[in-house]
Amino acid sequence: MRVIAILLSVSILCSGCDLIGFNNESSYDAKAASAAGETITVYSARHYEADSALFAAFTKMTGIPVNEVKGTAEELVGKMKQDGPNSSADLFFAVDGGVLSYAKREQVLQPLRTAAIDSQVPKKWRDPDEYWIGVTTRARVLVYAKDRVKREELSTYEALTDPKWKGRLLVRSSASLYNQSLLASFISLNGSKQAAQWARGIAGNLARQPEGGDREQALAIVDGIGDVAIMNTYYLGQLSISADPDEAKAPDKLGVVFPNQATTGTHVNISGIGLARYAPRKDNAVKLVEFMTSKEGQTLLVSRSFEYPVNEEAKLPELIASWGTFKSQLVAFSELGDRQREANELFQASGWQ
Ligand SMILES: [Fe+2]
Repeated sequence: MRVIAILLSVSILCSGCDLIGFNNESSYDAKAASAAGETITVYSARHYEADSALFAAFTKMTGIPVNEVKGTAEELVGKMKQDGPNSSADLFFAVDGGVLSYAKREQVLQPLRTAAIDSQVPKKWRDPDEYWIGVTTRARVLVYAKDRVKREELSTYEALTDPKWKGRLLVRSSASLYNQSLLASFISLNGSKQAAQWARGIAGNLARQPEGGDREQALAIVDGIGDVAIMNTYYLGQLSISADPDEAKAPDKLGVVFPNQATTGTHVNISGIGLARYAPRKDNAVKLVEFMTSKEGQTLLVSRSFEYPVNEEAKLPELIASWGTFKSQLVAFSELGDRQREANELFQASGWQ
């Protein structure tokens, strides 16, 4: 029997959203037959090619197609609210604890808890009410030029405000959610006054006005523009597999320090997925989340995204493993969202563009 796999066509109002569909028409006819019309729609605010590879692996295994609908978290949550019970979204996938809390608060999600998820994802990486489940974590660390900085010179985020780093620091814009969540965590841990001082101190020590994303900070160290960057670790992993030979060599010249190990711990944020409130393909969506958090799914995901897996049984890529283990900050992920507005205000006043 010839089987035609049907890809749902999802039109979305937001600009800049694109649609990537996966299906499997070859050797999974029986499965594909049952999958026709069972396509899972994932609303994703993530921007990593590794996710598409993970969904493709799920489709290959189950015959269930996955559509990724991309947009900003605000666009996607807005669309889910607007469509209500008619929404085609089965899952909402995003980075940042504050963003996940926002989706929960906007009531576009429903709780999801299964025995498999319970055993695969430690409780600390799940919403206390099960409205979202962590998929990966990401550490915001200090990356330095091995030939110009000694590892022992670096200790805490706070110590980077010392005059010895004047003209030597690199970091992306304060408009970045990554920096806003970092500052939000400092407001939570140390209070507004200290957080404001920190932002001013960093702004005063920059090697250049912020430009580019995290990976550009790493490349700027290699180019000698600055000596130390505040950035997420996984961009080094992504550089290491770049098709550009110079980029692929960049991580060899860079060291990683997990700051605040003797104090409040290294800032960690989370990527998570939540079951849409009106998920039309709930059973399939649950299967996908269970796969994404399984040892196999997690090993595959982090082999390309270079984030940290939430499933402790997953295998780490060599580069990540080489950086060792570290102590994480203890700040509730909902706090990152709650303090975001204040973090923005402090940044505005700090001179950190
Ligand atoms: Fe990122």
